[in-house]
Amino acid sequence: MTTPAPENTHHRTIRSFVLRTGRLTKGQEQAIETGWSTLGIDEGTSTLDYQALFQRTAPVVFEIGFGNGETLAQMAKAMPEYNFIGVEVHTPGVGHLLHLLQRDQLNNVRVINTDAVEILKQRIAPQSLERVQIFFPDPWHKKRHHKRRIIQTEFVELLVSRLTTNGLIHLATDWEPYAQHMAEVLDANPQLKRLQADSPFVERPAHRPLTKFEQRGQRLGHGVWDLIYQRV
Ligand SMILES: C[S@@+](CC[C@H](N)C(=O)[O-])C[C@H]1O[C@@H](n2cnc3c(N)ncnc32)[C@H](O)[C@@H]1O
Repeated sequence: MTTPAPENTHHRTIRSFVLRTGRLTKGQEQAIETGWSTLGIDEGTSTLDYQALFQRTAPVVFEIGFGNGETLAQMAKAMPEYNFIGVEVHTPGVGHLLHLLQRDQLNNVRVINTDAVEILKQRIAPQSLERVQIFFPDPWHKKRHHKRRIIQTEFVELLVSRLTTNGLIHLATDWEPYAQHMAEVLDANPQLKRLQADSPFVERPAHRPLTKFEQRGQRLGHGVWDLIYQRV
């Protein structure tokens, strides 16, 4: 039996996810095998060199928690003039996205399979991202879990530091209390301004594809809140 560490020496990082040990399907496994060497970014600590990664210069969109990657793949297809970096901790989702990228021969996306917070701190150069997008982050409904929500003051400061001047943060959620929390945190950051001055919330822009889950929600009358803020 292990002895628990005394309270004052027991530092545990609060993470925004719980790692599920989801099994990979054969297809996902194969997509990782065939696609990782060109589309995956290996673990490391060095600052990412976008020119070397994409073999071209283009504005970079950074998506955190892309889930199964359907939205990211659709956006990459519709916006070939952007380079996309997607980060997701859930490996089956990475497998699915790699399958989509190879199926559609998309070469403007690179994929990272680890905690986005660590990547932002260690590997993303200051003022280097044109946009950061986080769609439907885990809402952590219970009050005692709110500290796990990825949108927090300190995290937003980190995001802002990685954005270019005029760069955008785009968030979406279907959980109204989380939408309100997001608005409070973003409004409080002096380096950010709302895209639309009179409200923190905007209409879903056409470039964010409607997910299946959202379509179902719409039929049931559920709301979705998009927030877009700009670094000044
Ligand atoms: C509720 S899902 C939403 C997925 C997708 N964006 C969508 O709209 O369907 C949230 C995702 O964020 C991922 N996630 C949460 N925290 C993360 C982190 N710190 N780094 C990378 N991925 C994270 C989870 O694994 C999960 O797949």
